[in-house]
Amino acid sequence: MSDVCNIGVAVPGHEYEVAIGAGVTGRIGAAAAATGARRVALVTHPQLAQRFPAAVEALAGAGLDVIELFMDEGERAKSWSTVGGFLERCAQAEMHRDDLVVGLGGGVVTDTAGFTAATFLRGVRWMSCPTTVLGAIDAAVGGKTGVNLTAGKNLAGTFWQPSAVFVDTSTFASLPPREVRAGLAEAVKCGWIADPAILDEVASWGTAVDLATLAATEGALTSVVTRGIAVKAAVVARDERESGLRAILNYGHTLGHALETACGYTLSHGEAISVGMVFAAEMSALRGMLDRAAVDRHRDLLAGLGLPVAVPRADLDAAVPLLRRDKKASDDLRFVLLEGPARPVLVDDVDAATIDAALAAVST
Ligand SMILES: NC(=O)c1ccc[n+]([C@@H]2O[C@H](COP(=O)([O-])OP(=O)(O)OC[C@H]3O[C@@H](n4cnc5c(N)ncnc54)[C@H](O)[C@@H]3O)[C@@H](O)[C@H]2O)c1
Repeated sequence: MSDVCNIGVAVPGHEYEVAIGAGVTGRIGAAAAATGARRVALVTHPQLAQRFPAAVEALAGAGLDVIELFMDEGERAKSWSTVGGFLERCAQAEMHRDDLVVGLGGGVVTDTAGFTAATFLRGVRWMSCPTTVLGAIDAAVGGKTGVNLTAGKNLAGTFWQPSAVFVDTSTFASLPPREVRAGLAEAVKCGWIADPAILDEVASWGTAVDLATLAATEGALTSVVTRGIAVKAAVVARDERESGLRAILNYGHTLGHALETACGYTLSHGEAISVGMVFAAEMSALRGMLDRAAVDRHRDLLAGLGLPVAVPRADLDAAVPLLRRDKKASDDLRFVLLEGPARPVLVDDVDAATIDAALAAVST
């Protein structure tokens, strides 16, 4: 195994570590056995279980009884009925209070696994092995678990922190470029709100990044992913329940969520927040908080990753009425803006003219 980096997530009363490195999945057996669990419910997609057998091998090798809980791919499977089926299976397998749930997959899997753990027997421990860049940087850390409802994404869920996270960077090699891009949009967000070294590293990759090669190159994504996780860990440790600071993680997300919905999810989350970040940067500049060079840098970095920095006006027009319906926004329309790199501020008094001008700047 190559170098492993450990990041502590210091959520008060629920501290845990994220291990990051090629091959770290192999560690889950000992970690799971050390909890005293005898059975482990492994939530994953069948094709990921096949592609990454290390988790099952490590768990079984540590003498644990593994119950495989397979779910379909895609958002539709992150559902109430999937979790209901898993809970029945956990009960049939006579899992106890001390047993464990493990999620192996992207954010769809880890959100579902975490919610299964949070609800079985009123809460059992869980661990996650994220296999996407987005899953590692965003979904696996912070304890938000849940499922989608017919009315919208992530409308049911709980805060339920994992006991450990294993980010095996070797799993990124098989990710399609679109998934790498989606995760890197969140990494760029972490760069702007808290850690500009991420921006420098992404800039060092050039202006037309070959994402397939990047993902397949051992260790190439490790530093950016590690830094992104460190940003998320630091924020959620200070504000687990999104009562204040955690909202900065929504940089680019107010317009981004509205665009995703308005476009019927033809834009991925990463693509939508890419446009959302440029929009937020434009608003920051229009209010005199951010210099033009920083706005241009948003465009350069995101476009270099193949992410959109503008969308057709019709899509924006469809998104605007949804801005106020973003469940993460409070009653007033609130934006995360920037006063500079690593200087995010929450602003709820943006006037309509500024919003219009910023929309025009991200319209094709
Ligand atoms: N809990 C949180 O704080 C949080 C934060 C951000 C996002 N999310 C959730 O995460 C979900 C999105 O996660 P995602 O972007 O990881 O999508 P995803 O889980 O749907 O994974 C994307 C695709 O990649 C495949 N895949 C996963 N790992 C792979 C690998 N290593 N190689 C090849 N293919 C692989 C999956 O099977 C899937 O088809 C959304 O449901 C979102 O709501 C949660």
